Amino acid sequence: MRTRDLLNLHNTGHPGINALFAKAHSADWDFEKDVDWSLPVEPDDPLVGHAWAAYGKTATFQALPEPAKTHATRRSVGRMLNILQVGESVAQNVCARLVLTLREEDYRNHAAAQAMDEARHHLAYRRFLDAMGEQVEDIDAGTEMMFDALLSMDDPLELIATEQFFLESFAMNIFEGLRREATHPLLRRIVELITRDESRHMGFGVLYVAEWMRRAPLERRIAFARRWMGQILGSLLDRPGPIMLSRVIRRLREAGVADAERLGPRMLREQQEINAAELAEAVSGASVPHLLRSARRAGLLEPEIVEALHLSDEPLIRGALRGSIDAEAHA
Ligand SMILES: [Fe+2]
Ligand SMILES: [Fe+2]
Repeated sequence: MRTRDLLNLHNTGHPGINALFAKAHSADWDFEKDVDWSLPVEPDDPLVGHAWAAYGKTATFQALPEPAKTHATRRSVGRMLNILQVGESVAQNVCARLVLTLREEDYRNHAAAQAMDEARHHLAYRRFLDAMGEQVEDIDAGTEMMFDALLSMDDPLELIATEQFFLESFAMNIFEGLRREATHPLLRRIVELITRDESRHMGFGVLYVAEWMRRAPLERRIAFARRWMGQILGSLLDRPGPIMLSRVIRRLREAGVADAERLGPRMLREQQEINAAELAEAVSGASVPHLLRSARRAGLLEPEIVEALHLSDEPLIRGALRGSIDAEAHA
């Protein structure tokens, strides 16, 4: 880009996206002053309710001795915070690239403000991990590949659809779960402050995709929705299974549970029942996941698209469309 390209930047005049930039300042928080970093993080504190972690709700896990449960739960929290801290740095890179690529003044401004939020989130997670004072498990190959793919993109639609629209909607359910289940006040505080920022980021993704959908011909809209609805439904159906179980068993072995392997099949069976119940809740429309809410708000669940993708009878989609009526009635 040259000076001439920046001389008369065009503002799309989108009221929602312009408002996000103002909100980034009015809803700002101070990394040092708004968080009490002096709160100790004791080594025997599970930090969240055991039910937060995968397999933590199973009767078999619940019946284990407290120190073993604490070890497994802390490991799980550490692993998640490690994924989040690097995810924040990835998001910061995405935003920096968006600033350099986008030509619209309001879009660039949002991306610049978001980059600063992500820098702050990264610091907050890192500082909490340091306070925990233990080795964290490495991030898994699938997550690393997904982040690598995102870091190699340069088309704004691809970048925004992946980061703000998909990943940040996906992460929103993780943040809400952490905030609800956190028992450590410092962890709860930082997740609460971060979630406030993340809902603006997700909002930008929804508004940007909605604008694109409004302009694109039906055929391109359908192709876009096909790709992203596949991804969204895939990730919603991806519930704790054998890979996650092997992690839990390893953690329990580390904590001295000698028969950890033997407990595996029972925990898997119990978790499968929990998975089914949670899925049933999404299907009923009682709790529509953020991914489906974002899809609906961005126009991916419009009747002509749902029909073209043969999704009319998909229970999760029907739940999301049913849930929409309730959500709007409360608004
Ligand atoms: Fe973030
Ligand atoms: Fe974010």
